[in-house]
Amino acid sequence: MSYSIAIDGPAGAGKSTIAKTIAKKLNFIYVDTGAMYRAIGLYFLRLGITDEAVIEERCKEASVSIQYEDGEQQVILNNENVNGYIRTEEAGKMASAVAKLKAVRSQLVELQRELAKTSNVIMDGRDIGTFVLPNADMKIYLTASSKVRADRRYQELILKGEKCDLLQIEEDIIARDKQDMNREFAPLRQADDAILVDSSEMSKDEVVEKIISLYNNVGKDGSFCGN
Ligand code: DC
Repeated sequence: MSYSIAIDGPAGAGKSTIAKTIAKKLNFIYVDTGAMYRAIGLYFLRLGITDEAVIEERCKEASVSIQYEDGEQQVILNNENVNGYIRTEEAGKMASAVAKLKAVRSQLVELQRELAKTSNVIMDGRDIGTFVLPNADMKIYLTASSKVRADRRYQELILKGEKCDLLQIEEDIIARDKQDMNREFAPLRQADDAILVDSSEMSKDEVVEKIISLYNNVGKDGSFCGN
């Protein structure tokens, strides 16, 4: 039987960095579900389509799958590896917009559940513990204040040599949280049986250590999450 860890939380909480590191340590497969929504967002961004009804009608045109290269998840959109195009702020905003739509969510949830059936996974997103894998063996809700999240994103962009405005980044993060938390289908929220980890005052290593120790002490035998 495969084991699953769900990590949910708002934009910029560090979910993917943390999940990727834990996956390596535990020898699990890391599934980044946000990247899948970003790929569908990219498809419509390229077409210049923003009309929700049209996106719902045409989302099946965007065939998304994932592959692993040297342990790194690669997102394939209609036979094209789009990993290099989905990390922009624009793609993030568009991902959040298409993620509101039921047809888009159903298409991707199927793929996500399939992946968790066959492998030990650590999967991150917004609705993994509440909707995609309600019976996940361990659920973490990873968050941090919007100020801290904006500051981390700002440092990342500065390091890449990109021009950016800290206040604008915080505003965008708050707007994205609002959209993800208030949508009708599978909104972002902490599952009743998820463990809250607030990383506002923690380093990346401290968060990784905390989650691994939760896993070693209680999570491993499935004693979390009402099991
Ligand atoms: O985690 P991320 O920033 O790559 O996610 C991009 C957007 O995709 C996010 O704003 C909301 C959406 N998303 C979602 O609705 N459900 C998921 N499981 C993962 C992401």
